[in-house]
Amino acid sequence: MPTIAGSEKSEEVSLLSEDTISTPKKLKSRQRIAVSNLRTPDKEVKQDSHENLAVDSLSDCLGSESRDEDQMRAVKEALHVSKAPSTIVCREDEHRRVFEFVKGCLDQQKAGSLYICGCPGTGKSLSIEKVVKQVGDWSKQACLPPVDTLSVNCTSLTKTADIFSKILEIVEPVKEDNCYSSPLHRLQSLFSQKQDSSSRMMYIFLSFCCVSVTSDDLTSVIIFKFFSRLIIADEMDFLITKDRGVLHDLFMLTIFPFSTCILIGVANAIDLADRFLPKLKSLNCKPMVITFPAYSKDQILRILQERLMVLPYVAFQSNALELCARKVAAASGDMRKALSVCRSAIEILEIDIRGSPGPESQGPTPDNPVVRMDHMAAALSKTFKSPVVDTIQTLPQHQQIIICSAAKAFRGSKKDATIGELNKLYLEICKSRVISPAGITEFTNMCTVLNDQGILKFGQARGNKLKRVSLRVDESDITFALQGNHLLTLGVHFLSSHCGRERLTKAGTNIIQRLNLYQLYANLIKLLWLVN
Ligand SMILES: Nc1ncnc2c1ncn2[C@@H]1O[C@H](COP(=O)(O)OP(=O)(O)OP(=O)(O)O)[C@@H](O)[C@H]1O
Ligand SMILES: [Mg+2]
Repeated sequence: MPTIAGSEKSEEVSLLSEDTISTPKKLKSRQRIAVSNLRTPDKEVKQDSHENLAVDSLSDCLGSESRDEDQMRAVKEALHVSKAPSTIVCREDEHRRVFEFVKGCLDQQKAGSLYICGCPGTGKSLSIEKVVKQVGDWSKQACLPPVDTLSVNCTSLTKTADIFSKILEIVEPVKEDNCYSSPLHRLQSLFSQKQDSSSRMMYIFLSFCCVSVTSDDLTSVIIFKFFSRLIIADEMDFLITKDRGVLHDLFMLTIFPFSTCILIGVANAIDLADRFLPKLKSLNCKPMVITFPAYSKDQILRILQERLMVLPYVAFQSNALELCARKVAAASGDMRKALSVCRSAIEILEIDIRGSPGPESQGPTPDNPVVRMDHMAAALSKTFKSPVVDTIQTLPQHQQIIICSAAKAFRGSKKDATIGELNKLYLEICKSRVISPAGITEFTNMCTVLNDQGILKFGQARGNKLKRVSLRVDESDITFALQGNHLLTLGVHFLSSHCGRERLTKAGTNIIQRLNLYQLYANLIKLLWLVN
Protein backbone atom coordinates (compact mmCIF):
# COMPACT_ATOMS: atom_id res chain seq x y z
CA MET A 1 0.00 0.00 0.00
CA PRO A 2 1.11 3.59 -0.41
CA THR A 3 4.01 4.60 1.78
CA ILE A 4 3.10 8.24 1.85
CA ALA A 5 -0.39 9.21 2.79
CA GLY A 6 -2.02 12.50 3.47
CA SER A 7 -3.34 15.40 1.54
CA GLU A 8 -0.08 17.28 1.24
CA LYS A 9 1.62 14.35 -0.34
CA SER A 10 -1.29 13.82 -2.68
CA GLU A 11 -1.11 17.46 -3.58
CA GLU A 12 2.58 17.19 -4.39
CA VAL A 13 2.16 14.07 -6.43
CA SER A 14 -0.83 15.28 -8.35
CA LEU A 15 0.90 18.60 -8.93
CA LEU A 16 3.82 16.72 -10.29
CA SER A 17 1.75 14.59 -12.61
CA GLU A 18 -0.24 17.51 -13.87
CA ASP A 19 2.76 19.71 -14.40
CA THR A 20 5.01 17.20 -15.95
CA ILE A 21 3.05 14.32 -17.38
CA SER A 22 -0.28 15.52 -18.58
CA THR A 23 -2.42 18.56 -18.62
CA PRO A 24 -5.39 18.90 -16.25
CA LYS A 25 -7.64 18.41 -19.25
CA LYS A 26 -6.06 15.07 -19.97
CA LEU A 27 -6.39 14.09 -16.35
CA LYS A 28 -10.13 14.47 -16.68
CA SER A 29 -10.28 12.10 -19.62
CA ARG A 30 -7.93 9.77 -17.78
CA GLN A 31 -10.45 9.17 -15.07
CA ARG A 32 -13.17 8.53 -17.57
CA ILE A 33 -11.07 5.92 -19.30
CA ALA A 34 -10.11 4.21 -16.04
CA VAL A 35 -13.73 3.72 -15.13
CA SER A 36 -14.85 2.66 -18.56
CA ASN A 37 -12.02 0.14 -18.71
CA LEU A 38 -14.05 -2.00 -16.38
CA ARG A 39 -16.76 -2.41 -18.92
CA THR A 40 -15.03 -2.44 -22.24
CA PRO A 41 -11.41 -3.25 -21.49
CA ASP A 42 -10.11 -4.06 -24.95
CA LYS A 43 -11.44 -1.07 -26.76
CA GLU A 44 -10.57 1.39 -24.08
CA VAL A 45 -7.08 0.11 -23.43
CA LYS A 46 -6.39 0.41 -27.10
CA GLN A 47 -7.68 3.95 -27.04
CA ASP A 48 -5.42 4.76 -24.13
CA SER A 49 -2.35 3.41 -25.78
CA HIS A 50 -3.03 5.51 -28.82
CA GLU A 51 -3.60 8.65 -26.84
CA ASN A 52 -0.52 8.02 -24.73
CA LEU A 53 -2.22 8.98 -21.51
CA ALA A 54 -1.29 8.16 -17.97
CA VAL A 55 -4.19 6.04 -16.82
CA ASP A 56 -5.46 5.23 -13.37
CA SER A 57 -5.74 1.63 -12.39
CA LEU A 58 -8.62 -0.57 -11.46
CA SER A 59 -7.82 -0.28 -7.77
CA ASP A 60 -9.32 3.22 -7.76
CA CYS A 61 -12.63 1.65 -8.48
CA LEU A 62 -12.46 -1.48 -6.34
CA GLY A 63 -10.91 -0.42 -3.08
CA SER A 64 -9.72 -3.78 -1.75
CA GLU A 65 -6.25 -4.45 -0.33
CA SER A 66 -5.67 -7.94 -1.64
CA ARG A 67 -6.60 -6.87 -5.15
CA ASP A 68 -3.12 -5.39 -5.59
CA GLU A 69 -1.45 -8.76 -5.16
CA ASP A 70 -3.96 -10.48 -7.42
CA GLN A 71 -3.59 -7.82 -10.05
CA MET A 72 0.19 -7.96 -9.93
CA ARG A 73 0.10 -11.73 -10.27
CA ALA A 74 -2.26 -11.50 -13.24
CA VAL A 75 -0.06 -8.91 -14.95
CA LYS A 76 3.07 -11.00 -14.42
CA GLU A 77 1.27 -14.04 -15.83
CA ALA A 78 0.15 -12.13 -18.90
CA LEU A 79 3.74 -11.07 -19.47
CA HIS A 80 5.34 -14.42 -18.81
CA VAL A 81 7.30 -15.88 -21.73
CA SER A 82 5.68 -19.25 -21.19
CA LYS A 83 2.24 -17.73 -21.67
CA ALA A 84 1.47 -18.33 -25.32
CA PRO A 85 -0.38 -15.35 -26.75
CA SER A 86 -3.70 -16.12 -28.42
CA THR A 87 -2.62 -14.29 -31.55
CA ILE A 88 0.84 -13.57 -32.82
CA VAL A 89 1.06 -10.02 -33.99
CA CYS A 90 3.90 -8.51 -36.03
CA ARG A 91 4.86 -11.86 -37.49
CA GLU A 92 2.04 -12.22 -39.96
CA ASP A 93 4.23 -12.29 -43.06
CA GLU A 94 6.78 -14.77 -41.67
CA HIS A 95 3.98 -16.96 -40.34
CA ARG A 96 2.23 -16.97 -43.70
CA ARG A 97 5.42 -17.86 -45.58
CA VAL A 98 6.23 -20.77 -43.29
CA PHE A 99 2.68 -22.07 -43.51
CA GLU A 100 2.63 -21.74 -47.32
CA PHE A 101 5.88 -23.69 -47.50
CA VAL A 102 4.51 -26.61 -45.46
CA LYS A 103 1.16 -26.51 -47.23
CA GLY A 104 2.89 -26.54 -50.60
CA CYS A 105 4.88 -29.65 -49.65
CA LEU A 106 1.78 -31.41 -48.35
CA ASP A 107 -0.30 -30.46 -51.38
CA GLN A 108 2.29 -31.82 -53.76
CA GLN A 109 3.23 -34.69 -51.48
CA LYS A 110 6.84 -33.83 -51.71
CA ALA A 111 9.67 -33.41 -49.26
CA GLY A 112 11.33 -30.08 -48.64
CA SER A 113 13.49 -28.10 -46.29
CA LEU A 114 13.25 -24.67 -44.75
CA TYR A 115 15.80 -22.83 -42.67
CA ILE A 116 14.51 -20.18 -40.28
CA CYS A 117 17.00 -17.82 -38.73
CA GLY A 118 16.85 -14.73 -36.59
CA CYS A 119 18.17 -13.24 -33.39
CA PRO A 120 16.99 -14.51 -30.00
CA GLY A 121 13.46 -13.62 -28.96
CA THR A 122 12.23 -12.76 -32.44
CA GLY A 123 9.29 -15.15 -32.31
CA LYS A 124 10.72 -18.07 -34.32
CA SER A 125 9.73 -20.91 -31.99
CA LEU A 126 6.42 -19.25 -31.19
CA SER A 127 5.53 -18.87 -34.87
CA ILE A 128 6.52 -22.44 -35.69
CA GLU A 129 4.32 -23.71 -32.89
CA LYS A 130 1.37 -21.83 -34.37
CA VAL A 131 2.17 -23.07 -37.87
CA VAL A 132 2.17 -26.68 -36.66
CA LYS A 133 -1.27 -26.16 -35.17
CA GLN A 134 -2.52 -24.44 -38.29
CA VAL A 135 -1.18 -27.24 -40.49
CA GLY A 136 -3.04 -29.77 -38.32
CA ASP A 137 -6.31 -27.84 -38.69
CA TRP A 138 -5.82 -27.37 -42.40
CA SER A 139 -5.04 -31.02 -43.14
CA LYS A 140 -8.12 -32.05 -41.18
CA GLN A 141 -10.28 -29.68 -43.19
CA ALA A 142 -8.74 -30.88 -46.44
CA CYS A 143 -9.42 -34.52 -45.42
CA LEU A 144 -5.73 -35.24 -45.64
CA PRO A 145 -4.05 -37.72 -43.34
CA PRO A 146 -2.82 -36.10 -40.15
CA VAL A 147 0.72 -34.90 -40.40
CA ASP A 148 3.07 -36.63 -38.02
CA THR A 149 5.13 -33.94 -36.40
CA LEU A 150 8.41 -34.24 -34.59
CA SER A 151 9.58 -31.18 -32.71
CA VAL A 152 13.08 -31.53 -31.37
CA ASN A 153 14.97 -28.93 -29.43
CA CYS A 154 18.46 -29.91 -30.50
CA THR A 155 19.94 -28.70 -27.21
CA SER A 156 18.19 -31.63 -25.52
CA LEU A 157 20.01 -34.24 -27.61
CA THR A 158 22.80 -36.14 -25.87
CA LYS A 159 24.72 -36.38 -29.11
CA THR A 160 24.04 -34.71 -32.41
CA ALA A 161 23.39 -37.96 -34.34
CA ASP A 162 20.49 -38.72 -31.97
CA ILE A 163 18.36 -36.50 -34.20
CA PHE A 164 18.18 -39.44 -36.65
CA SER A 165 16.90 -41.94 -34.08
CA LYS A 166 14.22 -39.40 -33.13
CA ILE A 167 13.17 -39.07 -36.77
CA LEU A 168 13.22 -42.83 -37.22
CA GLU A 169 10.88 -43.20 -34.26
CA ILE A 170 8.12 -41.38 -36.12
CA VAL A 171 8.93 -42.67 -39.57
CA GLU A 172 8.99 -46.26 -38.42
CA PRO A 173 7.28 -46.52 -35.04
CA VAL A 174 7.29 -50.30 -35.22
CA LYS A 175 10.72 -51.55 -36.11
CA GLU A 176 10.56 -53.84 -39.07
CA ASP A 177 14.11 -54.41 -39.95
CA ASN A 178 16.93 -54.57 -37.44
CA CYS A 179 19.70 -55.23 -39.84
CA TYR A 180 20.70 -51.63 -40.47
CA SER A 181 23.86 -50.15 -39.07
CA SER A 182 22.46 -46.83 -37.84
CA PRO A 183 19.19 -44.87 -37.68
CA LEU A 184 20.53 -42.60 -40.42
CA HIS A 185 21.19 -45.53 -42.72
CA ARG A 186 17.76 -46.93 -42.03
CA LEU A 187 16.15 -43.59 -42.87
CA GLN A 188 18.19 -43.34 -46.05
CA SER A 189 17.12 -46.83 -46.98
CA LEU A 190 13.43 -46.15 -46.24
CA PHE A 191 13.43 -42.94 -48.24
CA SER A 192 15.04 -44.72 -51.17
CA GLN A 193 12.13 -47.12 -51.48
CA LYS A 194 8.87 -46.57 -53.25
CA GLN A 195 6.01 -45.44 -51.07
CA ASP A 196 3.19 -47.75 -50.22
CA SER A 197 0.34 -45.80 -51.73
CA SER A 198 -2.16 -48.18 -50.21
CA SER A 199 -1.63 -46.44 -46.89
CA ARG A 200 -2.97 -43.15 -48.23
CA MET A 201 -5.81 -44.91 -50.02
CA MET A 202 -6.66 -46.80 -46.86
CA TYR A 203 -6.77 -43.55 -44.90
CA ILE A 204 -8.99 -41.82 -47.40
CA PHE A 205 -11.28 -44.85 -47.55
CA LEU A 206 -11.61 -45.01 -43.76
CA SER A 207 -12.19 -41.27 -43.54
CA PHE A 208 -14.84 -41.58 -46.23
CA CYS A 209 -16.61 -44.21 -44.19
CA CYS A 210 -16.60 -41.69 -41.32
CA VAL A 211 -14.37 -43.96 -39.30
CA SER A 212 -12.31 -41.90 -36.92
CA VAL A 213 -8.73 -42.71 -37.71
CA THR A 214 -5.80 -41.66 -35.66
CA SER A 215 -2.19 -42.04 -36.59
CA ASP A 216 -1.81 -44.51 -33.72
CA ASP A 217 -4.47 -46.76 -35.26
CA LEU A 218 -2.71 -46.77 -38.54
CA THR A 219 0.80 -47.20 -37.28
CA SER A 220 -0.38 -50.23 -35.36
CA VAL A 221 -1.10 -51.94 -38.67
CA ILE A 222 2.09 -50.51 -40.15
CA ILE A 223 0.51 -48.90 -43.12
CA PHE A 224 1.30 -45.37 -42.11
CA LYS A 225 4.96 -45.12 -42.50
CA PHE A 226 5.09 -43.12 -45.70
CA PHE A 227 2.82 -40.28 -44.78
CA SER A 228 4.32 -36.81 -44.59
CA ARG A 229 6.37 -36.03 -41.56
CA LEU A 230 6.98 -32.53 -40.38
CA ILE A 231 10.30 -32.36 -38.60
CA ILE A 232 11.12 -29.24 -36.63
CA ALA A 233 14.73 -29.04 -35.52
CA ASP A 234 14.78 -26.02 -33.19
CA GLU A 235 18.11 -24.60 -32.00
CA MET A 236 19.70 -26.35 -34.94
CA ASP A 237 23.02 -24.61 -34.32
CA PHE A 238 23.66 -27.39 -31.79
CA LEU A 239 23.92 -29.90 -34.63
CA ILE A 240 27.00 -28.21 -36.01
CA THR A 241 29.85 -30.68 -35.80
CA LYS A 242 33.42 -30.25 -36.93
CA ASP A 243 32.78 -31.85 -40.28
CA ARG A 244 29.18 -30.55 -40.35
CA GLY A 245 28.20 -34.08 -41.33
CA VAL A 246 25.05 -34.30 -39.22
CA LEU A 247 23.68 -31.08 -40.64
CA HIS A 248 24.36 -32.15 -44.21
CA ASP A 249 22.89 -35.63 -43.67
CA LEU A 250 19.81 -34.10 -42.11
CA PHE A 251 19.07 -31.82 -45.03
CA MET A 252 19.93 -34.54 -47.50
CA LEU A 253 17.16 -36.73 -46.06
CA THR A 254 14.75 -34.44 -47.87
CA ILE A 255 16.14 -35.19 -51.34
CA PHE A 256 15.89 -38.96 -51.35
CA PRO A 257 13.53 -40.00 -54.13
CA PHE A 258 10.76 -41.22 -51.82
CA SER A 259 11.32 -38.97 -48.87
CA THR A 260 8.29 -37.32 -47.36
CA CYS A 261 10.22 -35.37 -44.74
CA ILE A 262 9.36 -31.71 -44.45
CA LEU A 263 12.27 -30.37 -42.50
CA ILE A 264 12.25 -27.00 -40.74
CA GLY A 265 15.55 -26.04 -39.13
CA VAL A 266 15.47 -23.10 -36.73
CA ALA A 267 18.57 -21.33 -35.51
CA ASN A 268 19.95 -18.00 -34.37
CA ALA A 269 22.87 -17.97 -36.75
CA ILE A 270 21.86 -15.71 -39.60
CA ASP A 271 24.97 -16.68 -41.49
CA LEU A 272 24.52 -20.43 -41.00
CA ALA A 273 22.95 -20.53 -44.42
CA ASP A 274 25.99 -18.89 -45.99
CA ARG A 275 28.48 -20.97 -44.05
CA PHE A 276 26.96 -24.41 -44.61
CA LEU A 277 24.61 -24.13 -47.44
CA PRO A 278 26.98 -23.81 -50.38
CA LYS A 279 27.76 -27.46 -49.83
CA LEU A 280 24.05 -28.26 -49.59
CA LYS A 281 23.49 -26.34 -52.78
CA SER A 282 26.06 -28.45 -54.54
CA LEU A 283 24.20 -31.48 -53.19
CA ASN A 284 20.98 -30.00 -54.52
CA CYS A 285 19.33 -29.74 -51.12
CA LYS A 286 19.61 -26.05 -50.35
CA PRO A 287 16.72 -25.11 -48.09
CA MET A 288 14.46 -22.14 -48.52
CA VAL A 289 15.53 -19.45 -46.02
CA ILE A 290 13.21 -17.19 -43.99
CA THR A 291 14.76 -14.57 -41.73
CA PHE A 292 12.96 -13.24 -38.68
CA PRO A 293 14.18 -9.65 -38.18
CA ALA A 294 14.61 -8.13 -34.73
CA TYR A 295 11.47 -6.46 -33.44
CA SER A 296 11.25 -2.70 -33.88
CA LYS A 297 10.14 -0.31 -31.14
CA ASP A 298 6.61 -0.12 -32.53
CA GLN A 299 6.35 -3.88 -32.83
CA ILE A 300 7.53 -4.46 -29.25
CA LEU A 301 5.07 -1.87 -28.04
CA ARG A 302 2.23 -3.47 -29.96
CA ILE A 303 3.04 -6.97 -28.71
CA LEU A 304 3.17 -5.73 -25.12
CA GLN A 305 -0.13 -3.92 -25.55
CA GLU A 306 -1.75 -7.02 -27.07
CA ARG A 307 -0.57 -9.17 -24.19
CA LEU A 308 -1.82 -6.69 -21.60
CA MET A 309 -5.16 -6.33 -23.32
CA VAL A 310 -6.48 -9.49 -21.65
CA LEU A 311 -6.42 -7.63 -18.34
CA PRO A 312 -9.49 -5.66 -17.35
CA TYR A 313 -7.37 -2.83 -15.97
CA VAL A 314 -4.38 -0.77 -16.95
CA ALA A 315 -1.12 -1.84 -15.38
CA PHE A 316 1.39 0.40 -17.16
CA GLN A 317 1.51 4.04 -18.03
CA SER A 318 1.73 4.04 -21.79
CA ASN A 319 4.90 6.13 -21.82
CA ALA A 320 6.53 3.57 -19.49
CA LEU A 321 5.74 0.80 -21.97
CA GLU A 322 7.08 2.96 -24.75
CA LEU A 323 10.33 3.53 -22.89
CA CYS A 324 10.75 -0.22 -22.52
CA ALA A 325 10.01 -0.83 -26.19
CA ARG A 326 12.45 1.86 -27.31
CA LYS A 327 15.30 0.61 -25.19
CA VAL A 328 14.83 -3.07 -26.00
CA ALA A 329 14.48 -2.36 -29.72
CA ALA A 330 17.67 -0.30 -29.63
CA ALA A 331 19.53 -2.99 -27.72
CA SER A 332 18.44 -6.23 -29.40
CA GLY A 333 14.80 -6.35 -30.49
CA ASP A 334 14.45 -9.38 -28.23
CA MET A 335 10.84 -9.82 -27.11
CA ARG A 336 11.87 -12.10 -24.28
CA LYS A 337 13.92 -9.26 -22.85
CA ALA A 338 11.04 -6.79 -23.20
CA LEU A 339 8.76 -9.13 -21.28
CA SER A 340 11.35 -9.66 -18.60
CA VAL A 341 11.91 -5.90 -18.18
CA CYS A 342 8.16 -5.35 -17.79
CA ARG A 343 7.90 -8.08 -15.20
CA SER A 344 10.83 -6.60 -13.36
CA ALA A 345 9.11 -3.19 -13.43
CA ILE A 346 6.04 -4.79 -11.86
CA GLU A 347 8.23 -6.21 -9.10
CA ILE A 348 9.69 -2.76 -8.46
CA LEU A 349 6.18 -1.36 -8.27
CA GLU A 350 5.30 -4.12 -5.78
CA ILE A 351 8.17 -3.02 -3.56
CA ASP A 352 6.79 0.50 -3.73
CA ILE A 353 3.34 -0.69 -2.82
CA ARG A 354 4.60 -2.68 0.13
CA GLY A 355 6.23 0.51 1.32
CA SER A 356 9.64 -1.02 1.85
CA PRO A 357 11.92 1.04 -0.32
CA GLY A 358 14.52 -1.33 -1.63
CA PRO A 359 17.45 -0.34 -3.79
CA GLU A 360 15.13 -0.14 -6.80
CA SER A 361 12.51 2.02 -5.17
CA GLN A 362 12.58 5.37 -6.88
CA GLY A 363 10.04 7.42 -5.10
CA PRO A 364 6.92 7.59 -3.03
CA THR A 365 4.37 4.86 -3.33
CA PRO A 366 1.68 5.72 -5.78
CA ASP A 367 -1.97 5.66 -4.84
CA ASN A 368 -2.56 3.86 -8.10
CA PRO A 369 -0.52 0.73 -8.60
CA VAL A 370 0.47 1.54 -12.14
CA VAL A 371 3.97 1.08 -13.51
CA ARG A 372 5.36 4.55 -14.09
CA MET A 373 8.36 5.81 -16.00
CA ASP A 374 10.62 5.66 -12.97
CA HIS A 375 9.72 2.01 -12.27
CA MET A 376 10.41 1.14 -15.87
CA ALA A 377 13.67 3.07 -15.96
CA ALA A 378 14.83 1.21 -12.85
CA ALA A 379 13.86 -2.14 -14.39
CA LEU A 380 15.66 -1.29 -17.60
CA SER A 381 18.69 -0.16 -15.70
CA LYS A 382 18.73 -3.46 -13.85
CA THR A 383 18.53 -5.40 -17.10
CA PHE A 384 20.85 -3.31 -19.21
CA LYS A 385 23.46 -2.40 -16.67
CA SER A 386 26.61 -2.08 -18.72
CA PRO A 387 30.16 -0.73 -18.38
CA VAL A 388 29.02 2.40 -20.26
CA VAL A 389 26.27 3.00 -17.72
CA ASP A 390 28.73 2.43 -14.86
CA THR A 391 31.21 4.86 -16.38
CA ILE A 392 28.61 7.59 -16.87
CA GLN A 393 27.38 7.14 -13.33
CA THR A 394 30.83 7.69 -11.84
CA LEU A 395 31.64 10.83 -13.84
CA PRO A 396 31.81 14.22 -12.13
CA GLN A 397 28.64 16.26 -12.27
CA HIS A 398 29.78 18.71 -14.97
CA GLN A 399 30.83 15.91 -17.28
CA GLN A 400 27.42 14.35 -16.76
CA ILE A 401 25.83 17.64 -17.74
CA ILE A 402 27.97 17.70 -20.89
CA ILE A 403 26.73 14.22 -21.76
CA CYS A 404 23.15 15.35 -21.19
CA SER A 405 23.78 18.31 -23.51
CA ALA A 406 25.17 15.97 -26.14
CA ALA A 407 22.19 13.62 -25.82
CA LYS A 408 19.90 16.59 -26.30
CA ALA A 409 21.95 17.93 -29.21
CA PHE A 410 22.07 14.65 -31.10
CA ARG A 411 18.49 13.62 -30.65
CA GLY A 412 16.86 13.00 -33.99
CA SER A 413 18.90 12.92 -37.16
CA LYS A 414 21.69 15.29 -36.03
CA LYS A 415 24.91 13.29 -35.78
CA ASP A 416 27.45 15.86 -34.65
CA ALA A 417 27.87 19.46 -33.50
CA THR A 418 30.72 21.89 -32.89
CA ILE A 419 32.16 22.26 -29.40
CA GLY A 420 30.72 25.78 -29.44
CA GLU A 421 27.20 24.50 -30.07
CA LEU A 422 27.56 21.88 -27.36
CA ASN A 423 28.83 24.53 -24.96
CA LYS A 424 25.71 26.62 -25.60
CA LEU A 425 23.48 23.74 -24.56
CA TYR A 426 25.68 23.05 -21.55
CA LEU A 427 25.34 26.67 -20.41
CA GLU A 428 21.55 26.48 -20.80
CA ILE A 429 21.33 23.40 -18.61
CA CYS A 430 23.63 24.89 -15.98
CA LYS A 431 21.49 28.02 -15.95
CA SER A 432 18.26 26.11 -15.58
CA ARG A 433 19.71 24.19 -12.65
CA VAL A 434 21.40 27.15 -11.00
CA ILE A 435 24.82 25.57 -11.32
CA SER A 436 27.75 27.84 -12.09
CA PRO A 437 29.17 26.68 -15.42
CA ALA A 438 32.78 25.88 -16.24
CA GLY A 439 34.65 28.26 -18.56
CA ILE A 440 35.18 27.32 -22.20
CA THR A 441 38.75 26.06 -21.64
CA GLU A 442 37.67 23.82 -18.78
CA PHE A 443 34.66 22.76 -20.81
CA THR A 444 36.90 21.76 -23.73
CA ASN A 445 39.20 19.87 -21.37
CA MET A 446 36.23 17.96 -19.98
CA CYS A 447 35.14 17.11 -23.51
CA THR A 448 38.65 15.79 -24.16
CA VAL A 449 38.38 13.55 -21.10
CA LEU A 450 35.03 12.26 -22.36
CA ASN A 451 36.60 11.70 -25.77
CA ASP A 452 39.40 9.68 -24.14
CA GLN A 453 36.81 7.60 -22.30
CA GLY A 454 35.05 6.79 -25.55
CA ILE A 455 31.87 8.64 -24.64
CA LEU A 456 32.29 11.55 -27.04
CA LYS A 457 34.16 11.52 -30.33
CA PHE A 458 36.10 14.46 -31.74
CA GLY A 459 36.32 15.11 -35.43
CA GLN A 460 39.17 16.98 -37.16
CA ALA A 461 39.20 20.80 -37.04
CA ARG A 462 41.66 23.62 -36.67
CA GLY A 463 40.14 25.74 -33.92
CA ASN A 464 38.92 24.21 -30.66
CA LYS A 465 35.49 25.83 -30.88
CA LEU A 466 34.99 24.54 -34.42
CA LYS A 467 35.98 21.01 -33.51
CA ARG A 468 33.09 18.69 -34.28
CA VAL A 469 31.95 16.34 -31.61
CA SER A 470 29.61 13.36 -31.70
CA LEU A 471 28.20 10.97 -29.15
CA ARG A 472 29.53 7.44 -29.05
CA VAL A 473 27.14 5.97 -26.53
CA ASP A 474 23.49 5.18 -26.75
CA GLU A 475 21.14 7.92 -25.63
CA SER A 476 19.15 5.37 -23.65
CA ASP A 477 22.30 4.37 -21.72
CA ILE A 478 22.61 7.99 -20.69
CA THR A 479 18.99 8.09 -19.58
CA PHE A 480 19.46 5.00 -17.43
CA ALA A 481 22.79 6.02 -16.05
CA LEU A 482 21.57 9.45 -15.00
CA GLN A 483 18.47 8.46 -13.15
CA GLY A 484 19.05 7.62 -9.53
CA ASN A 485 20.67 8.99 -6.42
CA HIS A 486 23.49 10.98 -7.89
CA LEU A 487 21.00 13.06 -9.86
CA LEU A 488 19.36 14.09 -6.65
CA THR A 489 21.59 17.11 -6.47
CA LEU A 490 20.66 18.23 -9.94
CA GLY A 491 17.02 17.63 -9.17
CA VAL A 492 17.21 19.60 -5.92
CA HIS A 493 18.80 22.56 -7.68
CA PHE A 494 16.13 22.46 -10.29
CA LEU A 495 13.37 22.14 -7.75
CA SER A 496 14.78 24.91 -5.59
CA SER A 497 14.43 27.35 -8.39
CA HIS A 498 10.93 26.24 -9.34
CA CYS A 499 9.11 25.21 -6.20
CA GLY A 500 11.10 26.45 -3.25
CA ARG A 501 12.55 24.25 -0.55
CA GLU A 502 10.11 25.45 2.11
CA ARG A 503 7.18 24.06 0.29
CA LEU A 504 8.81 20.69 -0.01
CA THR A 505 9.83 20.77 3.63
CA LYS A 506 6.23 21.31 4.60
CA ALA A 507 5.15 18.37 2.51
CA GLY A 508 5.88 15.78 5.18
CA THR A 509 7.48 15.26 8.53
CA ASN A 510 9.38 12.15 7.58
CA ILE A 511 12.77 12.98 6.09
CA ILE A 512 12.89 9.77 4.07
CA GLN A 513 9.57 10.59 2.51
CA ARG A 514 10.85 14.03 1.55
CA LEU A 515 13.95 12.54 0.01
CA ASN A 516 11.83 10.11 -1.94
CA LEU A 517 9.78 12.96 -3.24
CA TYR A 518 12.86 14.87 -4.33
CA GLN A 519 14.09 11.77 -6.00
CA LEU A 520 10.83 11.23 -7.81
CA TYR A 521 10.84 14.81 -9.02
CA ALA A 522 14.41 14.54 -10.14
CA ASN A 523 13.90 11.28 -11.99
CA LEU A 524 10.71 12.27 -13.69
CA ILE A 525 12.01 15.64 -14.76
CA LYS A 526 15.18 14.03 -16.03
CA LEU A 527 13.31 11.35 -17.93
CA LEU A 528 10.79 13.72 -19.43
CA TRP A 529 13.51 16.07 -20.44
CA LEU A 530 15.55 13.37 -22.13
CA VAL A 531 12.68 11.41 -23.59
CA ASN A 532 10.49 14.16 -24.94
N1 LIG B 1 4.85 -11.73 -31.91
C1 LIG B 1 4.81 -12.07 -30.63
N2 LIG B 1 3.67 -11.92 -29.93
C2 LIG B 1 3.61 -12.23 -28.63
N3 LIG B 1 4.64 -12.70 -27.92
C3 LIG B 1 5.81 -12.88 -28.56
C4 LIG B 1 5.95 -12.58 -29.95
N4 LIG B 1 7.21 -12.85 -30.31
C5 LIG B 1 7.83 -13.31 -29.23
N5 LIG B 1 7.00 -13.34 -28.18
C6 LIG B 1 7.31 -13.77 -26.81
O1 LIG B 1 8.71 -13.88 -26.71
C7 LIG B 1 9.07 -15.19 -26.33
C8 LIG B 1 10.29 -15.60 -27.11
O2 LIG B 1 9.91 -15.89 -28.44
P1 LIG B 1 10.47 -17.17 -29.20
O3 LIG B 1 10.70 -18.27 -28.23
O4 LIG B 1 9.58 -17.46 -30.33
O5 LIG B 1 11.85 -16.59 -29.67
P2 LIG B 1 12.91 -17.28 -30.62
O6 LIG B 1 13.01 -16.43 -31.84
O7 LIG B 1 12.57 -18.70 -30.83
O8 LIG B 1 14.22 -17.09 -29.74
P3 LIG B 1 15.48 -18.08 -29.63
O9 LIG B 1 16.28 -17.88 -30.87
O10 LIG B 1 16.20 -17.60 -28.42
O11 LIG B 1 14.96 -19.47 -29.48
C9 LIG B 1 7.88 -16.08 -26.60
O12 LIG B 1 7.78 -17.10 -25.65
C10 LIG B 1 6.72 -15.13 -26.49
O13 LIG B 1 6.28 -15.11 -25.15
MG1 LIG C 1 13.41 -20.46 -30.13
